Amino acid sequence: MFKQLWLVSLGLLGFGVIPATAQADEQYDTGQKKAAVCMTCHGKAGVSDIAIYPNLQGQKFEYLVTTLKAYKRRQRTGGLALVMYEQADSLTEQDMKDISYFFSKVTSQSISEPTQSKPEPSAQ
Ligand code: HEC
Repeated sequence: MFKQLWLVSLGLLGFGVIPATAQADEQYDTGQKKAAVCMTCHGKAGVSDIAIYPNLQGQKFEYLVTTLKAYKRRQRTGGLALVMYEQADSLTEQDMKDISYFFSKVTSQSISEPTQSKPEPSAQ
C-alpha cells in the first residue's frame, strides 16, 4: 500500500504533474519581499555595490540565519557589526529564515540589477 503510494508520487513528480518547487518558491517570494530593506545595502540580488558591504548571494542558508541571530544577540562584534544590529533586531526568526532562503537561492540572472543604461522602473 505505502509502497504503491510512494511509486505513484514518484511518477507524478517525474512527469511534472506536481510542481515540486511550488512550496520553495513561495518562501523565495516571501523572503524577497521581506529583504527589501536589506537590498539597499546588500544589492537586489545580494551583490553589494559598496566595497565594505558584504555580498549575500549564494551564501549558505544556515550561515545566514546563524549570522543574523548572532547580530541580534550582539555576539558578533567589531567591524561594521553595529550597522547590522538594528537590522537584525527588526527580524523574527521566521523573517531570518525567509530572507536567508532568498539570498541563498537568488542569482543575478533571476534579478535584473538596475544599471545606468537601464533605469529601474519607478512603478512597483
Ligand atoms: C545600512 C546598510 C545595511 C543594511 C540595510 C543591511 N545590512 Fe547586512 N550588513 C551590512 C554591513 C556593513 C555588514 C558587515 C557587518 C560586519 O562587519 O559584521 C553586513 C553584514 C551582513 C551579514 C553577514 C555577512 C557575512 O558574510 O558574514 C548578513 C547575513 C547580513 N548583513 C544580512 C542582512 C539582512 C538580512 C538585512 C535586512 C534585514 C541587512 N543585512 C541589512 C550593511 C547592511
